Amino acid sequence: MERILVIGANGQIGSELVEALSLQHGADNVIAADIGPRSLFGATCYETIDVLDAGRIATIVDTYGITQLYQLAALLSVTGEQAPLKAWTLNMNGLLNVLELARERGAAGKPLKIFWPSSIAAFGPHTPAVDTPQLAVMDPTTIYGISKQAGERLCEYYFTRFGVDVRSIRYPGIISHKSPPGGGTTDYAIAIFHAAKRGERYTCFLGPETTLPMIYMPDAIRATIQLMDAPGEQVRIRSAYNVAGLSFNPRELAEEIVRQLPGFRIQYQPDHRQAIADTWPHSLDDTYARADWGWKASIGLQELVRDMLEHVPAAPEKLHHAA
Ligand code: SER
Repeated sequence: MERILVIGANGQIGSELVEALSLQHGADNVIAADIGPRSLFGATCYETIDVLDAGRIATIVDTYGITQLYQLAALLSVTGEQAPLKAWTLNMNGLLNVLELARERGAAGKPLKIFWPSSIAAFGPHTPAVDTPQLAVMDPTTIYGISKQAGERLCEYYFTRFGVDVRSIRYPGIISHKSPPGGGTTDYAIAIFHAAKRGERYTCFLGPETTLPMIYMPDAIRATIQLMDAPGEQVRIRSAYNVAGLSFNPRELAEEIVRQLPGFRIQYQPDHRQAIADTWPHSLDDTYARADWGWKASIGLQELVRDMLEHVPAAPEKLHHAA
């Protein structure tokens, strides 16, 4: 029986992952944890944890007999640029704290499996942008991307050197309707739906032809759980896996919204976030994820738009707030 701790449970991925894991493993076996307000998302236990407090994480892991730990607390690309040192400290030390704990627990005969999210932001301007391979030049330009690239190296190091069972995905931009946009460059693709549902014209902070890799939340959750459930010997990549969902640009997204919601209008005013997007891939080659643990995306643009338009509330206050 698995006992699962999700740190960063109030965030975009965390909130939906807690719900999915509670359905899979039983609500009593999933502990939601965050520095923010208590939210259960289908689990029965909540604990306040600051991921920078290694002692507190160890206490909770011991108290509940945790066997799997998801460390999701982080600052994203745009918020990271507003506070680079804070982003570096949170993103790196948060990861190091859980890797060190897993190393100690492993040495004591109490294995702790770790999941940590990487991102397309780990790539940079010299990475091949189309069908970006698993192994490619990585020269990230944001503090967030630099922390993800360094984090990937740490994950592989802790696996190779200490046998820590750590697994990771380079998430594309994740689109979802349960939490509000949370400080990312790809978040235009969420904000656009909120404007559409309010009947407003959307001013896009990226230019119309800015193609980025994206994934709809149900696919992102499925990929995460599939990777964590895969037998260890099949997980050949211990840095982070490329996982493709779909790729589109703001013009293509807006066109599909107009098809389903005639009258929707968009205008373009690229700002500082354009420079970040311009360094990221357009599409990903996820051959390794397909071969190693059977990954295959299932949600395309038409279905994504239909589902977002159905579920995004017209009143933004109905959303819970992400960490
Ligand atoms: N969605 C993230 C961002 O835009 C990328 O991982 O910051």
